Amino acid sequence: MEQGEISLSEREFSRIKSRVYKVAGISLSDAKRTLVVSRLSKIVRALDLSSFDDYVDYLEKGASASDGQDFVNALTTNLTRFYREDHHFDHLKTYVGALMSERPRGQRLRIWSAGCSTGQEPYTIGMDLLNAFPELKRWDFKILATDIDTAVIAKAARGIYPENELSGLSGERARPFQKLSDGTVQVPQAARELVSFKPLNLIAEWPMKGPFDAIFCRNVAIYFDKPTQGAVFGRFGKLLAPEGFLYIGHSENLGSGGEGFRLVGKTIYQSKRMNKREAA
Ligand SMILES: C[S@@+](CC[C@H](N)C(=O)[O-])C[C@H]1O[C@@H](n2cnc3c(N)ncnc32)[C@H](O)[C@@H]1O
Repeated sequence: MEQGEISLSEREFSRIKSRVYKVAGISLSDAKRTLVVSRLSKIVRALDLSSFDDYVDYLEKGASASDGQDFVNALTTNLTRFYREDHHFDHLKTYVGALMSERPRGQRLRIWSAGCSTGQEPYTIGMDLLNAFPELKRWDFKILATDIDTAVIAKAARGIYPENELSGLSGERARPFQKLSDGTVQVPQAARELVSFKPLNLIAEWPMKGPFDAIFCRNVAIYFDKPTQGAVFGRFGKLLAPEGFLYIGHSENLGSGGEGFRLVGKTIYQSKRMNKREAA
């Protein structure tokens, strides 16, 4: 155990697992024990509590919303990067190009990045599409980016990253970033203006009505159990536009939520609901 870490009994670990499952749908495996100790010890100490049992009691009985949020924020895994699983962005470009030729200028085009972490995914969507279609600004095009973790949402909204986030990107992909005087880089303003970041728990109510032309929910459902995955993917089906696309992570599948979708590419699913002109 590192200095400052608090010991975690089996019973305490199981209480923490139940709590994070209940509030966030996150299923922590036994392998996450060390992670739980290292991430939560600091919070327990800061609250002046002496054990994880006391901490869970506190969360269950009258902790503030912000203490409850700190618990969730500490237990999420936020790994992400620009242009991750980039075959999705090539597919999206072809699809958005087709929508732009079907829909007159000024019409609505919507994309949702669900579980967006620190923002690299929705910004990649914005930058890549603006690069391919500079005229996209003439449509009512917006990207909604959501995550349960309020700390990553706050970072994402700034759009500022350490320069090494760009290592591995081609010159063409790295060029639009603005270099700031402190050595960091910022997502270009035109792409930042396309994205709205909001906190949202995928296992709670969703205030949005949709429809979304495309939904990205990649490397998020891996933290859920099968019933939760199926339920969340099934709900995406209801918010997608007819024939809209759902992009998921490389190790994920739709499970029981896949009824309304057909697989059209590697981890790319299309809503089986048809546009009225074709259904007629
Ligand atoms: C590994 S990141 C994936 C980021 C990005 N989609 C990607 O593929 O690079 C997983 C994200 O899912 C979020 N997450 C976990 N449970 C969630 C929930 N119940 N509702 C919304 N977001 C959740 C985490 O906070 C984390 O930022």
